[in-house]
Amino acid sequence: MNLFPAFFQMDGAHVVVFGDGVNAERKVRLVAKTPARISLVCDKRPDWAGAFDSQLHIIAASEAEDALASARFTIIAYEDEAQARWAYDLARAQGVPINAVDRKELCDFTVPSMLDRGAIIAAVATGGAAPVLAKDIRAKLETLMPARIGDLAAMAERWRPTVKTALSDETSRRHFWEKALRGPVAEAMYAGDDARAEALMSDTLARFADGLDKDEFGPVHIVGAGPGDPELLTLKAFRLIQQADIVFHDKLVSPEILDMVRRDADRVPVGKSKGEHLVPQDGIHELMIAASREGKRVVRLKGGDPFIFGRGGEEVEALRSEGIEATVVPGVSSALGCAASANVPLTHRDHAQTLTFVTGHAQKGGVPDLDWEGLAKPHQTVVVFMGVGTSSIISQKLREAGLAGETPVAVIENGTRANETRGFGTLEALPKIIETHGIRGPALLIIGAVAGLPAEARDTFIAEALA
Ligand SMILES: C[S@@+](CC[C@H](N)C(=O)[O-])C[C@H]1O[C@@H](n2cnc3c(N)ncnc32)[C@H](O)[C@@H]1O
Repeated sequence: MNLFPAFFQMDGAHVVVFGDGVNAERKVRLVAKTPARISLVCDKRPDWAGAFDSQLHIIAASEAEDALASARFTIIAYEDEAQARWAYDLARAQGVPINAVDRKELCDFTVPSMLDRGAIIAAVATGGAAPVLAKDIRAKLETLMPARIGDLAAMAERWRPTVKTALSDETSRRHFWEKALRGPVAEAMYAGDDARAEALMSDTLARFADGLDKDEFGPVHIVGAGPGDPELLTLKAFRLIQQADIVFHDKLVSPEILDMVRRDADRVPVGKSKGEHLVPQDGIHELMIAASREGKRVVRLKGGDPFIFGRGGEEVEALRSEGIEATVVPGVSSALGCAASANVPLTHRDHAQTLTFVTGHAQKGGVPDLDWEGLAKPHQTVVVFMGVGTSSIISQKLREAGLAGETPVAVIENGTRANETRGFGTLEALPKIIETHGIRGPALLIIGAVAGLPAEARDTFIAEALA
């Protein structure tokens, strides 16, 4: 390791920056995030200096030596080599740590790529070897560090003395912090509810102080995994999946997403496909409740969005009836994922001002009792979930209710996944489209003028017209 990471304490610090160009501006902008006083050595006040008035003052080159005497560090941002050398000699003579922009040979320290979350700062350096890689790593850290993690750290700092007084034993303090900073307190803070985070912190501490922490429920999160493409997972879903001790997942959750579960966590498939339940819904509730009672961090991972034909509502109710407050993390519904992937705009000012999601599968099998007249009204898009098996009846019912047989239809199977299949055609030909493309599901039917808009759809209509 030929770089040693360290952080400067900036309360009451003074920093000298040399230069007035764009590099000087960038460095001043960075230093001005700290409470430091900044002396900028330049001939005339640059236009951008006004933005930093409260911290910045301009000094002449003749004053630089005196300013350096009290500097915590200096940044040389001159373009000109001779000027940079002059500033370097001046700072070196005073033993002030030096960073010289784009002049590695003059640097005592480099400025890393950093992620600023208030009380928490992550810094990544490659010693100038590959700054792009440092930026990439920083971007990855960004996905792992919730935006409000700094506020959580600041809250922990405020509570530290109280916790120390309440819990004399170091092990129970460690367990308390693990619980507080990884559980509901943290979630409330990340969700922007500071008051609730404070209240939960107080409750958690009281329980630990009374030795009741052992009977606590583990947190349960009902998480939408999106339609399949792992990049469509939300940052929150990603974080919770990685924290979970046990994950109960549906069949629709893609293997790439399941790979994100921690290796030492349990993965339990409970999903169903085409009405075949691996574990009945009540059984899923019982499993989640039992895992939470064991104090485990539970994630219930569901395809798409948990509240769109996902029975997420029933799961929330079942947990609540046992005194367990579950949080729900939305996911990209397959309706949105498939539409984007197939280039079908679900609404369009000229074609569809209403968007309706329906299920094509009744609870007891067959087609549900839908408002076919309502669905056949013009200027709308109808998205049918679980409608492959009942597509002939859906096509027939909609036509009987008055929707034209030539209405465009798109059928998207395994949308957003590597094996996505798309079929376009007309409402009349819906069963044929499914048959021709060998579609078995999971698939969505998109019915309405918008399904005829993608170039791929138009090509199909032209080919059919010529046939
Ligand atoms: C029980 S529903 C769950 C819907 C899910 N909650 C959502 O928001 O997408 C299952 C149905 O969603 C649709 N579906 C889910 N993932 C899909 C995908 N990747 N491609 C196409 N359809 C999908 C299919 O219609 C499937 O039969």
